[in-house]
Amino acid sequence: MATAIVEKKDRSKLIPFSSRLKEGRALAQDVWSIFNALNLPADCINLGQGYMNFPPPAWVTEAAEEALRTVAPNHYSHPKGRIRLREAIKKFYGPQLGRELDVESEILVTSGANEGQYSVFTAFLEQGDEVIMFEPFFDQYLPSVTFNGGKPVYVPLHPPAHDISKPTSNDWTIDIAELRRAVTPRTKMIIVNTPHNPVGKVFTKKELEEIAAVAEEFNLLVMSDEVYDCLVFDGKEHIRIANLPGMWDRTVTVGSAGKAFAATGWRVGWLIGPASIIQPTLAATTRIVFCTNSPLQEAAASGLEQAKERQYFEIQRAEYAERRKILVDVFDQLGLKYTLPEGSYFILLDISNVKFPDDYPFPKSVLGRGRDFRACWFIAMEIGVSSIPVSEFYCEEHANIGEAYARFAFCKDVDTLGKAAERLKNLKNYM
Ligand SMILES: Cc1ncc(COP(=O)(O)O)c(C=O)c1O
Repeated sequence: MATAIVEKKDRSKLIPFSSRLKEGRALAQDVWSIFNALNLPADCINLGQGYMNFPPPAWVTEAAEEALRTVAPNHYSHPKGRIRLREAIKKFYGPQLGRELDVESEILVTSGANEGQYSVFTAFLEQGDEVIMFEPFFDQYLPSVTFNGGKPVYVPLHPPAHDISKPTSNDWTIDIAELRRAVTPRTKMIIVNTPHNPVGKVFTKKELEEIAAVAEEFNLLVMSDEVYDCLVFDGKEHIRIANLPGMWDRTVTVGSAGKAFAATGWRVGWLIGPASIIQPTLAATTRIVFCTNSPLQEAAASGLEQAKERQYFEIQRAEYAERRKILVDVFDQLGLKYTLPEGSYFILLDISNVKFPDDYPFPKSVLGRGRDFRACWFIAMEIGVSSIPVSEFYCEEHANIGEAYARFAFCKDVDTLGKAAERLKNLKNYM
């Protein structure tokens, strides 16, 4: 009798999962799985996700192959990161930060920038601590903050005024009074992302000085996400907030081998900052991943060691500028409004004038989301080029600001971008 009852019971949800998954938006179907290549026509050109369709440089992958043939790098590394990579980071970033970095206490190798940021949150957030981030924001910040008991607080980057006919990412502005108003006695941290995903904004010295003044006044930790530091265009200068007076002591600078060496799947990143930030973060990362994969740390080290001599970052920057131009030219030909990015590898296209039928056969996953989800879906299906709806990078209350934009990633080879540009010309049929 008892056996029969057990058999009838639904056993598929016996154990309730943690509410933090809901708070961290981790259960909602995320934009990456909706606009995933698998859901789109096989020949749709993927300018949605921000990973490259070209390999890392051969002289970097060769170092990975060599590491795999050597015994030591097939095993655990020190949780701080392999000494060769920490030395390479010291040599590469030290001069830019104007200091002799201590490889033992001021540099930490992490499993991608993402895990490094997660570990900082684990190390510094108490339950209910507030973390200010500028919207639109890189979507991983939200779950990483909430999983660690923090509360995200949003301050908007204001989109370009309507009468600017050719906006650049510099026309997305911060209102420092708004930032000040967002600070409460529970504020612990500000996240600054420059060059910015998805806007492409390269924060100016003045903007960073104003943010720094707020951080100093309210004793806040600054997480400076600079994973696109190597991709700044048009002679614009990448400023590191850690370099502003007094800021080293409260800033952790975040970098990524994935962006630097076209190797997003390697999951190698790094944090640079004072021992007072790096040491607690080391304690956290040691208990989260213990250490980052060893062979690809060797490869990243080799990349940084050789970059200068090979003029790798200068050449890469010029290649990305050429890629950016392919999309910009087609948008110009069509008379479409977009934000010219001064950094990173994304272009925001204003899609508010793209017209599509209300009764178009949209999948459930995009219905009930912002208009941009439907517009991006329509563009992917009818034009054959995928992009990412920008409302995903906003909190629910402010999602309407993002609805005007689709994000096109130009971290793709010239051929692919050329084909995408040809297809995008057909957008004129829907304006
Ligand atoms: C702004 C920003 N920060 C961090 C990351 C994560 O970098 P990683 O792949 O090294 O974890 C990304 C990746 O897209 C990003 O755009």
